[in-house]
Amino acid sequence: MKAYVLNEPGQPNNLQLQEVDKPVPDKGEVLVKVRAISINPVDTKTREGKALYKQLEADPPVILGWDISGEVEAVGEGVNYFNVGDEVFGMVNFPGHGKAYAEYVTAPESHLAHKPEHIPHHEAAAATLAALTAWQVLVHEASIQPGQRVLIHAAAGGVGHFATQIARYFKAFVIGTASAKNHEFLRTMGADEQIDYHAYKVEDVVMDADIVLDSLGEENAQRSLATLKNGGKLISILGGATEAVQAEAKKRNIEAKNYLVHSSGEDQAKLADLMREGKLRPHVSHVFSFEDLPKAHQQVETHRTNGKVVVTVA
Ligand SMILES: NC(=O)c1ccc[n+]([C@@H]2O[C@H](COP(=O)([O-])OP(=O)(O)OC[C@H]3O[C@@H](n4cnc5c(N)ncnc54)[C@H](OP(=O)(O)O)[C@@H]3O)[C@@H](O)[C@H]2O)c1
Repeated sequence: MKAYVLNEPGQPNNLQLQEVDKPVPDKGEVLVKVRAISINPVDTKTREGKALYKQLEADPPVILGWDISGEVEAVGEGVNYFNVGDEVFGMVNFPGHGKAYAEYVTAPESHLAHKPEHIPHHEAAAATLAALTAWQVLVHEASIQPGQRVLIHAAAGGVGHFATQIARYFKAFVIGTASAKNHEFLRTMGADEQIDYHAYKVEDVVMDADIVLDSLGEENAQRSLATLKNGGKLISILGGATEAVQAEAKKRNIEAKNYLVHSSGEDQAKLADLMREGKLRPHVSHVFSFEDLPKAHQQVETHRTNGKVVVTVA
């Protein structure tokens, strides 16, 4: 089969399309014929030799990627939930070696869910790592409740546009930050209030938030503490809850923590249900062919994408 192998970290064209052995499903695994792959900032950081690169390098060949949608081609021993021909999607082996930039991927069945029938593969692939992050942060880490005020940074991005919709689903009051040109997009995702971060500092215009989702890092997390009420929660997906931020949070009776998403077929199935109910809609702004996958990395690296960047596999 064909797969993109990263022989050396570096630029997008270091991703080399090569013939490699088709994987064989182990016990509890399925073999998926990949129809679409989504690309995340962690993919581009790992390609540069950062993020998860060291870990992947220990298990060559390095094949990046975690987010897939496709069809079950074969099942390993002891697989109960999926049959050959089922359409599935999910984030495979994160934060391990997902090997998703390939025509075929093996995945533990516990990392996948049935794809909603009406959602095409390129949209299903989009609703994996970014959507799982939003779900796990808001539901598992922050225990979001109806009526809460939730501040979502970078609400127009991959994680942000899912977090906005999920917070809305839980009947929270959703405040999102984005450039002014993206405010209409935020409204269509269900944000009640939009803040242009170029024109305003959140700490000057937001108060009494129950939950903040930080995806920008320490400086943003630090400033966002002032937007939270006593007893509020700040969850950072970019290491923003440093020791200094946690110490300041403690003084304000705020819980500040970092979070890393993990593969979960169970959470993926919850997201599938929301999509079936029409409550969650992946927004795919860029679709590239498998041959153009390195261009998809360039798009993600603009840090200006609305929603998601996806690659389709013929
Ligand atoms: N820890 C974890 O488990 C985890 C999981 C997923 C992602 N992440 C990390 O979280 C970050 C975001 O991921 P993503 O997939 O959502 O990225 P993304 O889709 O590439 O984000 C792009 C969006 O960021 C917005 N943006 C850029 N700078 C901003 C700023 N200063 N304030 C507000 N919005 C800003 C842009 O909106 P405008 O065009 O309006 O500026 C754009 O819509 C990445 O660093 C990623 O690695 C971590």
